[in-house]
Amino acid sequence: MKNKKQIVLSGVQPSGELHIGNYLGSLKNFVELQNKYDCYFFLATYHSISGDYDPKIKKQQILDLAIDFLAVGLDPKKCVIFNQIDIPASPELAWIFNTLTPISELARMTQFKDKSSHQVKNINAGLLTYPTLQAADILLYHPNYVPVGIDQIQHLELTNKIVRWFNNKYGNYFKEIKPLLTQVPKVMSLVEPDKKMSKSSGPKHYIAINDSPKIIEEKLKKAVTGVGTEKDIPQGAINLITLLNEFGTQKEVKKFEAEIKNNTIKYSELKSVLAKNISEYFAPYRAKRKELAKNPEKVRAILAQGAVKAQKIAQETLNEVKSRIGVL
Ligand code: TRP
Repeated sequence: MKNKKQIVLSGVQPSGELHIGNYLGSLKNFVELQNKYDCYFFLATYHSISGDYDPKIKKQQILDLAIDFLAVGLDPKKCVIFNQIDIPASPELAWIFNTLTPISELARMTQFKDKSSHQVKNINAGLLTYPTLQAADILLYHPNYVPVGIDQIQHLELTNKIVRWFNNKYGNYFKEIKPLLTQVPKVMSLVEPDKKMSKSSGPKHYIAINDSPKIIEEKLKKAVTGVGTEKDIPQGAINLITLLNEFGTQKEVKKFEAEIKNNTIKYSELKSVLAKNISEYFAPYRAKRKELAKNPEKVRAILAQGAVKAQKIAQETLNEVKSRIGVL
């Protein structure tokens, strides 16, 4: 174990284009982590079908997310990139975890309650058992750290409970994992800055990482800033400064912050500086995405190679579990 790097694992659901909030919260971090750790990054396809979705576009969403992983800079030479759907060990282990997990623990998950209230006609069992599948995704690879956004912390706590339930019943095997909470400011909707930036509210609420410079400019032009007082900076303005902090220079941040305080701010200027920064920041990504999109076979081959590596480890874990629980 001496020379071994610590293991990091995380997953992202393939369910449409990524916005800059998603990028700051996960992919940006993954790109840095791949240089330090033994990393596994996967497409959480099974999780994504527990929500309402259109089967006609799912395959494209899977390809798009794989392209995004690569285009932002994840390197298959440095990390294992794969699709959960290629790892049958995941749902198999999830089933075993289902038999250890009280329904009451699943029913109290915030995400379950949230999603149930948003898709009242589709409160399927997969929504409820979502965290046991997530625990299986994680524990198959014995990671040390799992980078996630704050909304997933509860699922990681449940994962650690599953570790304890399993170890108590079947002997010490799994080890508890640690969340790696990404240090990111909350990115808010452009037009309703009191709400989190989210795809489900519609395109004018977010900037996608693949938006063209023109679209970025248009969306920012329509961003709501609101009127504030000296002490009370409007939430929309705070949001633009937050973004400038991520994508612009400190000099620009200082200048506009001062202008907001002095009430000499011209929001049109702030917006156009921010638009230029965001466009430039993602220019290399857009170019690489275009290249990869021309070669989907190459992208699929990378996923296939990743799956071979992941499935090998996953299968070993699953066999050990089956043996410990007395079925193999
Ligand atoms: N539930 C995660 C999300 O919605 C996605 C996910 C599935 C995941 N399995 C995982 C994240 C394992 C980390 C580890 O973002």
